[in-house]
Amino acid sequence: MFHTNLDPFPENFLWGAASAAYQIEGAWAEDGKGPSIWDTYAQIPGNTFEETNGKVAIDHYHRYKEDVALMKQMGLKGYRFSVAWSRILPDGEGAVNEAGVAFYEKLVDELLRQGVEPILTLYHWDLPQALQDKYLGWEGRETAEAFERYCRILFERLGKKVTYWVTMNEQNVFTSLGYRWAAHPPGLKDLKRMYAANHIINLANAKAINLFHELVPQGKIGPSFGYGPMYPFSCDPEDVLAAENGEAFNNAWFLDVYCKGEYPKFVYKQLAKVGLAPEVTPEDQALLKQAKPDFLGINYYHGGTAQQNNLQKQSAEKKEFSKVDPYLMQAAAGEFSPEETMFATAENPHLKKTDWGWEIDPVGFRVALRRIQANYDLPIFITENGLGAIDQLTEDKQIHDPYRITYLQEHLVELQKAITDGVELIGYCAWSFTDLLSWLNGYKKRYGFVYVDRDNQSERQLARIPKDSFYWYQEVIRTNGASLTSET
Ligand code: BG6
Repeated sequence: MFHTNLDPFPENFLWGAASAAYQIEGAWAEDGKGPSIWDTYAQIPGNTFEETNGKVAIDHYHRYKEDVALMKQMGLKGYRFSVAWSRILPDGEGAVNEAGVAFYEKLVDELLRQGVEPILTLYHWDLPQALQDKYLGWEGRETAEAFERYCRILFERLGKKVTYWVTMNEQNVFTSLGYRWAAHPPGLKDLKRMYAANHIINLANAKAINLFHELVPQGKIGPSFGYGPMYPFSCDPEDVLAAENGEAFNNAWFLDVYCKGEYPKFVYKQLAKVGLAPEVTPEDQALLKQAKPDFLGINYYHGGTAQQNNLQKQSAEKKEFSKVDPYLMQAAAGEFSPEETMFATAENPHLKKTDWGWEIDPVGFRVALRRIQANYDLPIFITENGLGAIDQLTEDKQIHDPYRITYLQEHLVELQKAITDGVELIGYCAWSFTDLLSWLNGYKKRYGFVYVDRDNQSERQLARIPKDSFYWYQEVIRTNGASLTSET
């Protein structure tokens, strides 16, 4: 579909960038903060890339003013960050740690003072360790209660200042990496427990949304989902069906619950057949139905390609692919799993890949936006999108990152086409504002507009250095996106 003219970006479009507490803050045991599951997990040798951990990260906790000043310099309109639950409630549910609340109050005030809209994520994977120990983390219904209490504190303390709130970051990704591939805490390979935990997280999400609407009626809240559209490998109807299955299994399984308040019948039935469906009480059903997000946060990196599943054909290569890719829930060969008979993932011959093997697919971004709009009809907020790459600091302390500019430019033009198609978008947060700690790739894989001078071994001075992409995005923001398609 071709538009001769693209609609301009909406006037109040939130041009933003994002981060997450564990990946930037450091100060892991300061001012009363309790340990999170990531603090514990990263201390076990072999769990993370070159033993990297978030003890110091990029020290945003102590340097937040400098970071916000850079946002102001860039002209950033919105900044998405997450709150570390165990800073607010060190044991996850008991006494409030006032110093922790004060940090986020100061951060929010600083953002507002510099004209940057705060976008607050309530859960970006750093569950308080105490809740893991006491209730088996997200497998215990008590953790959903604790989440509600934690949210209440933040809604009461920051609800008047923060308009945009994100509940869960990429529930699909953290449950599969944590409970299926044993690549994140709690480090399990247990599908039954994964689906059980996933259900409790759905309840926690719903509780938070309901409470928010009661306490912060003027605000907006929604989950952020890691969406990847599924393509059929060919027009063979069997491949088309496989892609439908992949779409249902990877996406609708989560999005239907968020947006329609119920599990999709097709996936639920397949899970029930193999004894993996979660236990859902009538009270749970009522809760899920009641909670209605105001927008849908979408993190987009890439989609996937599906073909008819032929178990004999599954190669060892594919097995590895599915293990390293958090966005594709495709069983490893031989593993007993519900999607074994539904679809197989395939390489897409039309797409190039990043250094880490993630497909680069800007048109897929538009496909994603169109599908989400058609199925769920909610305003969409892009809460993450970006390129992880190896950046080289030159001798004169610059970072030339044309590859990142190209990636972002191409995705933003597709976003503008989606707006022209009729998709309602609130804003776009690139991942990420500064370089930060990649959960499994340390500081080798960088996403930021601002380079942070440290590596896996040494923290050095943690100097902040704007990359070429920083100035490029500054111009995009200044022109409200017009520079994306201008000739010069
Ligand atoms: C998203 C997460 O899944 O992808 C971020 O929300 C993460 O926290 C980002 O950093 C990039 O992932 P990675 O593995 O390339 O660092």
